[in-house]
Amino acid sequence: MHLENISLQHFKNYQTLELQFPKEINCFVGENGSGKTNLLDAIHYLSLTKSAFNPIDSQNIQHDENYFAIRGRFQVDSREYTVGCSLRQKQKKVVKLNQKPYEKISEHIGKFPLVLINPHDTDMIRGGSEARRKFFDSVISQVNPTYLSHLIQYNHGLKQRNALLKQFADAGSTDEDLLTPYNQIILELGKEIHRERNRFTDTFVPIFDWHYKTLTGEKERTAIIYTSDLDHTDFETRFKNNLNKDLVLTRTGLGTHKDDYIFNIENHPLKKFGSQGQQKSFVIALKLAQYDIVREIKGFKPLLLLDDIFDKLDDLRINKLMLMLKEGRFGQIFVTDARPERTTAIFQDLREDMDIFLVEKGTVRKST
Ligand SMILES: Nc1ncnc2c1ncn2[C@@H]1O[C@H](COP(=O)(O)OP(=O)(O)OP(=O)(O)O)[C@@H](O)[C@H]1O
Ligand SMILES: [Mg+2]
Repeated sequence: MHLENISLQHFKNYQTLELQFPKEINCFVGENGSGKTNLLDAIHYLSLTKSAFNPIDSQNIQHDENYFAIRGRFQVDSREYTVGCSLRQKQKKVVKLNQKPYEKISEHIGKFPLVLINPHDTDMIRGGSEARRKFFDSVISQVNPTYLSHLIQYNHGLKQRNALLKQFADAGSTDEDLLTPYNQIILELGKEIHRERNRFTDTFVPIFDWHYKTLTGEKERTAIIYTSDLDHTDFETRFKNNLNKDLVLTRTGLGTHKDDYIFNIENHPLKKFGSQGQQKSFVIALKLAQYDIVREIKGFKPLLLLDDIFDKLDDLRINKLMLMLKEGRFGQIFVTDARPERTTAIFQDLREDMDIFLVEKGTVRKST
């Protein structure tokens, strides 16, 4: 699969822009703040219908404009697909495949898969469980539409249940019957989500281990342990017994929305005891494992977006990544770098089909 072209209107710092992309390597180089990452984000929208950086869609409309529009043409197995994603202020986002709008935008997820590696990824290690759940959810969702649909229904049910708990608290009276349909969602869909997360972790971990070892050349023992309230066989009873606490706190305290993934190195939490280098290697290995799994299940290579990663990696890791590139492990790649000479040096001799785009304050031109 590859992205043949893209056109932008009023997206972030771009007024209008049209670019054609070669099938292999695309480098965006330019000063800080020029708009390199914004180009990757536009591609992220075409693949995943949202920004990788700013979850508030309307803030991605160029300042003082009232809409943004992103369009791109993908090629998958010699067939072409046009994807459009646009948003007008105060209106709903519209995503179209071959000019036809989706009724449910989530149906688009997974059709044109993408993996983004970016400097903020280590937040996933240092921050709370939500970022880790989000990562795994996004990988599973790209390969399993049923999972995504369960997740959306579950989150909707959870929101409704929490809203009811709040209403009960405000009114000073509780009508437990009203909670029944939402309890059911949390128990039944929660079970499905838990099962799929378990199954996925089993597939994911060996692939992750391989990447971590390949990247670091070291023999450190790493572990990814999926944990959930639903691991306990008496979850249903505990969930029901927790109602009083839920009523006091006006939110649902137990369930699969509290799941976490523990990352360990040599039996200790990576968050607390991992060096910066170990943490960096860990997230890159997570992303490369994501790449492999998506490629395997989809049967074609996802887009790979590398945002500023050369800045953050030492020579050893850059060399390992370059080896993977040489082996042809990846398909189309989009790279950003503030230092053009470094990118050129890294990619020189690698493959012929490469363009360097010079980015300057929201304009882009191809380097000759
Ligand atoms: N909604 C918006 N309207 C206009 N400009 C925006 C909007 N959102 C972000 N920007 C601008 O986009 C620019 C940042 O672009 P981007 O993150 O792509 O830079 P970059 O080239 O990747 O820089 P760096 O090398 O520092 O990573 C900033 O100047 C920011 O003000
Ligand atoms: Mg950037």
